[in-house]
Amino acid sequence: GRRESRVCTVRVPINIALVKYWGKRDQTQNIPLNDSLSLTINSLHARTTLRVNYEIGTDSVKINGKSQTVTGSRYQRVFEEVRRWERKRKAGEVAEHPVSIQFEITSETNFPVSAGLASSAAGFAAIAECLQKIFGFTDSQKSQLARLGSGSAIRSIFGGLVRWRRGTQPNYEDSIAEQSFPSTHWPSLRALILVVDEGRKEYSSTDGMQRTVETSTLLERRIECCDVNIDKICAAFSNRDFSAMADMIMRDSNNFHAVCMDTSPPLMYLNDVSRTIIRLVHVYNEKNGSTVIAYTFDAGPNATLYLEEDTVQDFLDFATKQLRFAESAQTEVEEILGHKLDES
Ligand code: PMV
Repeated sequence: GRRESRVCTVRVPINIALVKYWGKRDQTQNIPLNDSLSLTINSLHARTTLRVNYEIGTDSVKINGKSQTVTGSRYQRVFEEVRRWERKRKAGEVAEHPVSIQFEITSETNFPVSAGLASSAAGFAAIAECLQKIFGFTDSQKSQLARLGSGSAIRSIFGGLVRWRRGTQPNYEDSIAEQSFPSTHWPSLRALILVVDEGRKEYSSTDGMQRTVETSTLLERRIECCDVNIDKICAAFSNRDFSAMADMIMRDSNNFHAVCMDTSPPLMYLNDVSRTIIRLVHVYNEKNGSTVIAYTFDAGPNATLYLEEDTVQDFLDFATKQLRFAESAQTEVEEILGHKLDES
């Protein structure tokens, strides 16, 4: 008879890179040119439910109540891979056994998805987690599925400081993430996210990366430096040396956006508010006599600030005097999301 459907719900957090992943050496498998490093921000998460029905039907994905296009999407890529694996597995059991699997996903995030806050990382890591639980996949398969959906999702599988190794094996099975340090190693670390623009990003990271790989001459130099920079950040993290870590975080963000500007036509992710935040952070650190806060920007204008707990209130007092806040105006900071890295 027909198999019963299976359901799984998980909660998976976002991560924000300290050394960015930018550039693929394999487009279809999302294999990066460089190692990357991130901090997982546990309090911003996706709560995702996956239902698997063993019947023929249309796959569906709903995020915060809104139905998503599945055909031709990254979701479909993940679903097709699972069907392919199951077909292969079943072929060994019953000859010509057709696999009828239908996927139904509903996901809720506790932050605005449109803000481009690495929501896809949390979402795809959650889907991969559910798929592993339901189908009994190995950890390596789970990583592969997360990565297939969104490269950076592979890092959300772990908490704390996480490194994604680009991998050297021809079959890419060693292009996986690993935890460098648990968040408990540095409990006073905090992240503030300044939502500058809730709008959709101008170019997807996939299109942007491809354009950079094809046109930037600076990218090669960036790729050469990533491993050394990751080692420096890990050493600073190990010693809880905030200023050494912060310096490297800001350098990587600026280097990444320099490479974006070196892309033709240029990828201009930062806007005037982003640049004001960059200046503000440097002024604050200067005023303070040491580097106590760091900024980093992904492929969009929103800032993630890293700092220690005892700096949060003073910086907020300082920043709110300097920055204007508005409901929806594009040129002002809309919202500050403040978060501990680990609340569990
Ligand atoms: O995972 P993707 O394909 O959305 O790419 C992420 C790219 C950056 O956010 C800019 C950098 C990173 O390492 O997360």
